[in-house]
Amino acid sequence: MSFFAPALEGTKPERYVQLNQELAALIGDERDFVANMANMAALLFHQLPDLNWAGFYLMREGELVLGPFQGKPACIRIPLGRGVCGTAAATRETQLVPDVHAFPGHIACDADSRSEIVVPLIRDGMIIGVLDLDSPKPGRFDEDDRAGLESAAGLLLGASLML
Ligand code: SME
Repeated sequence: MSFFAPALEGTKPERYVQLNQELAALIGDERDFVANMANMAALLFHQLPDLNWAGFYLMREGELVLGPFQGKPACIRIPLGRGVCGTAAATRETQLVPDVHAFPGHIACDADSRSEIVVPLIRDGMIIGVLDLDSPKPGRFDEDDRAGLESAAGLLLGASLML
């Protein structure tokens, strides 16, 4: 299978509409959660500007464990409630962090990271993991990113069968 993802164009919300169309095409009728997470991490990392990390942590026996990602090697286990990822999982709310150094308990996996957004993955009322994007630019993420990435997470969850 070959996949061609054209450069995104237009306003930021328009670019997210295109990105999510590309994601839907990439997933197709594939139901495997790991495969879809892996391709989604690659799509986000290559299509969104100014990222140094994009990927997933998955709930495993009460803590977050590293899943498919693009970027430098990262911390493997994050307790619920710790750091930006653990806070998103514990609160079940997207965490938009313009300055990671100002976030209490931020876990520095990549010293390049300056801002971060973490979207919780919730299925049938259960937290199953988080989608995490890091940027070397302060204030890289805004409400358009939140809306676009929450939609992307919904596409992934709607398409995939959990393990
Ligand atoms: N900074 C995150 C840890 C994961 S890495 O950014 C990939 C946090 O504070 O949860």
